[in-house]
Amino acid sequence: MVRIGILVGSLRKDSYNMKIARYIMKNYKDKAYFQIIDIEDFPLFNEDLEDNVPRPILHARGQIKNKDGIIIISPEYNHSIPGVLKNALDWFSRDDYVMMKKPYMLMGASSGGIGTARMQGHLRQVLNSGAFQMYSMPNNEFLFARIQDHMDEDGNLTNQSTIKKLDNRIDSFLQFIEIIQSSNR
Ligand SMILES: Cc1cc2nc3c(=O)[nH]c(=O)nc-3n(C[C@H](O)[C@H](O)[C@H](O)COP(=O)(O)O)c2cc1C
Repeated sequence: MVRIGILVGSLRKDSYNMKIARYIMKNYKDKAYFQIIDIEDFPLFNEDLEDNVPRPILHARGQIKNKDGIIIISPEYNHSIPGVLKNALDWFSRDDYVMMKKPYMLMGASSGGIGTARMQGHLRQVLNSGAFQMYSMPNNEFLFARIQDHMDEDGNLTNQSTIKKLDNRIDSFLQFIEIIQSSNR
C-alpha cells in the first residue's frame, strides 16, 4: 500500500487544517496508508542544535523517510507559510534530506475567502529548492475557503461538491506517485 505522510501547519487544538488531515486519514484509509507527522515539539531551528539533533525531529525524519508522498495541509498566516511549518521544513532540509524528490500535494483551509492560495505559492518555492527538489503534482492546489461554513462539529466536510473534488484529488495524487515511482525505477 502507498504510504503518505501528512504535515499540518497549525498546532491549534481545534485546527480546521488538522481536522481535514484526520478526515483524509479516516475516509481514504482503504486507498493508502496515511500518517500525520507530529511537529508540535520541534524546537526553533538553530544550527547549534545540529550536533545533537533533538529526538522529536529524528522521530519525524524517520517517519517521512519511509513515505512515498507528502501532503501538506496548512493555514495561511499573514499571506504566507505559518512559522511552525516553515520551522519544520527547515529541520527537514538538513542532514539526510528526508523530503528529497518526493511527490507532494498542497491543501489549505482558511476562514477567509482566499483559502491559502498565497501561502501555497510560497510553499511551492520552498519545496522547489535544492534541499527538497520535490515533485509537484500538476493542478496542485486545493483551497478550502470559508472552512467554518463547510465543516461540521465532528470534522466532517459538509459540501458534496468539495467531497467529490477531494475524492478525485486523492486519486490523482496516488496516480501521480505511481508515475513518479515508475519513472525513477
Ligand atoms: C496569525 C494569523 C494570521 C492569519 N493570516 C491569514 C491570512 O493571511 N489569510 C487568511 O486567509 N487567513 C488568515 N488567518 C485566519 C486563518 O485562516 C484562520 O485562523 C484558520 O482557521 C487557521 O487555521 P486552523 O483552523 O487550521 O488553525 C490568520 C490567522 C492567524 C492566527
